[in-house]
Amino acid sequence: MSSSNNGRTAIVTGASKGLGAGIARALAASGAAVVVNYREDAKGAERVVADIAAEGGQALAVRADVAASADVRRLFASAREAYGRPVDVLVNNAGVAAFGPLAAVTEEEFHRELNTNLLGTVLTTQALAAQDDLDGAAVVNVSTAGTFTLPPYGALYIASKAAVNAFTVTTAKELGPRGIRVNAIAPGPTDTEGARALGFTGSDQETAAIAATPLGRTGLPGDYGPLVAFLASDDARWITGDVILVSGGMR
Ligand SMILES: NC(=O)c1ccc[n+]([C@@H]2O[C@H](COP(=O)([O-])OP(=O)(O)OC[C@H]3O[C@@H](n4cnc5c(N)ncnc54)[C@H](OP(=O)(O)O)[C@@H]3O)[C@@H](O)[C@H]2O)c1
Repeated sequence: MSSSNNGRTAIVTGASKGLGAGIARALAASGAAVVVNYREDAKGAERVVADIAAEGGQALAVRADVAASADVRRLFASAREAYGRPVDVLVNNAGVAAFGPLAAVTEEEFHRELNTNLLGTVLTTQALAAQDDLDGAAVVNVSTAGTFTLPPYGALYIASKAAVNAFTVTTAKELGPRGIRVNAIAPGPTDTEGARALGFTGSDQETAAIAATPLGRTGLPGDYGPLVAFLASDDARWITGDVILVSGGMR
């Protein structure tokens, strides 16, 4: 039996492609009315919306930079306007990464990664919690298995996601009394547009990652949606403040 999110409204950030698109599809299939957020790729977002509609689901694409508070306010207002109710599922998936030696880290790159990965998660979670007509909610933050395996050459990215893990646990404690559950998933290396752009797909690093993965492959964008749909649903009512490794056994 799969988990139900009937009657819920979900925002999935960064859902024009990759993991976010897979998560948006799974949430819609579980009954949620979904907002497919994107930053630049309007075509990708509209494709995800069309796929969901073709399956009989409800979805809407909304452009917003999660690192800009005015955009985040507009994102939540668009959801309420379209669906007429508060947002009670938030998936903080939008993220950017760079890999390389510590010496190559610049202030600009620091702000790019921390703004999207951490500030974006802070602003959207604030916006969710600011809704005064909320009757319980679920937040799922997308971290990385790298916060468990702690490999070299990704210090900034992994530090930004380790901060997301800490934010997950502390906000779960603060918001729990209002019935707002906050969890994170920590995906292993996954074949997405983002991973391809970083040169990971087909690289020696990918070969090494597969060798270190008991299930013998990299992740696929569709591998995470069922778990997120479960975490969003009442089936996960006793789970909060957890960071769940989802990596085919790589640790
Ligand atoms: N792929 C992996 O191996 C892997 C492993 C572990 C964790 N993760 C995490 O999983 C998440 C998704 O990764 P992915 O590989 O699917 O990435 P991706 O293919 O590069 O897609 C990234 C998505 O995030 C959106 N985005 C980026 N910056 C944004 C911003 N400021 N505001 C709103 N949206 C923004 C992009 O929108 P536009 O394209 O429309 O601009 C796109 O929809 C990230 O948080 C990543 O850190 C990925």
